[in-house]
Amino acid sequence: MRKNLLVLGIESSCDETGVALVETRGGGVPVLLSHALYSQIDMHQAYGGVVPELASRDHIRRVLPLTREVMAQAQCSLAQVDVVAYTRGPGLAGALLVGAGVACALAAALGKPVLGVHHLEGHLLSPFLSADPPEFPFVALLVSGGHTQLMQVDRVGSYQLLGESIDDAAGEAFDKSAKLMGLPYPGGPHLAKLALGGDGTAFKLPRPLLRSGNLDFSFAGLKTAVLTQAKKLGPELESRKADLAASTQAAIVEVLVKKSLSALMQTGMTRLVVAGGVGANALLRSQLNAACQQHGIRVHYPELDFCTDNGAMIALAAGMRLQAGLATLQSGYTFDVKPRWSLAVQQPEIVAIS
Ligand code: KG4
Ligand code: ZN
Repeated sequence: MRKNLLVLGIESSCDETGVALVETRGGGVPVLLSHALYSQIDMHQAYGGVVPELASRDHIRRVLPLTREVMAQAQCSLAQVDVVAYTRGPGLAGALLVGAGVACALAAALGKPVLGVHHLEGHLLSPFLSADPPEFPFVALLVSGGHTQLMQVDRVGSYQLLGESIDDAAGEAFDKSAKLMGLPYPGGPHLAKLALGGDGTAFKLPRPLLRSGNLDFSFAGLKTAVLTQAKKLGPELESRKADLAASTQAAIVEVLVKKSLSALMQTGMTRLVVAGGVGANALLRSQLNAACQQHGIRVHYPELDFCTDNGAMIALAAGMRLQAGLATLQSGYTFDVKPRWSLAVQQPEIVAIS
């Protein structure tokens, strides 16, 4: 029988420090034992966006106290940890280096292997932490702050890119539109809240690449259209802000829903998995639910806590890779990070002790 493994996961790719502990249980989905998160959002809000150097310094402050918290919650000691996993990329170089450095130092002190994890693989597998986990194969709609991708996922480690944004990501479209409406960073959830009191049909905004015939996205033009509309409104913007927010959200959501359905039709798959921060959007969830129900498609989301960045998805992805035999041991604790890293061409790799 396969030995159960305790995997510690550290996420530090952007503005959230996340640490979690999972345990692999035979061939089943690894079980989350504990997790802790510190969000830097309040610190970056004053600057209207993430300041990379401040992010790195704050990760240094948070990562060890969070690790202690996670171990205490799970009533485990560090000596029991079998593998230390960390986000190797993509993300902010300095922020990634903090997690990688701490993970490797911890692993070296414990004499245990380390495993570098792809941040998007973490997002993509995060719905497996939910009460209603998906089954392979499925189409994944990955909608994070920096990425909008449709992927065909046949099993752990097999990620085929079906389409992606050729410019801004959907999260960026939310954030940039929110910023020009004077909303705080990160704009997505604020814009969604404002949109609750608005009319999504009030302004005609473009649905970029909706009829392009492929599965790519483009959101840069939408942001420009929102800016043009805001300028046109001038002093009237203040009283029409909720309508503009609702119209922006409606445009982004319509494109995401229709392209996801096209991906499902094209691949013949009957399961959709939504992952990444924008996956927390209530309108996206309700419209995807309605569309999928109509077409006999099962749709899965991560728990709301695990939509945005967290350590649990990193520990989980590491655990699932180890179970799938996709983590090959190498010698040494040398590490590098990959600020730009495509998931579709990811090779299985591990940096570990000999
Ligand atoms: O996945 P994530 O935490 O970070 C990256 O890996 O990029 O995603 C963050 C993105 C931001 O653009 C944020 O505005 C967006 O997710 N977001 C939302 C909502 N919650 C987070 N966008 C729309 N509606 C939401 N409720
Ligand atoms: Zn993320």
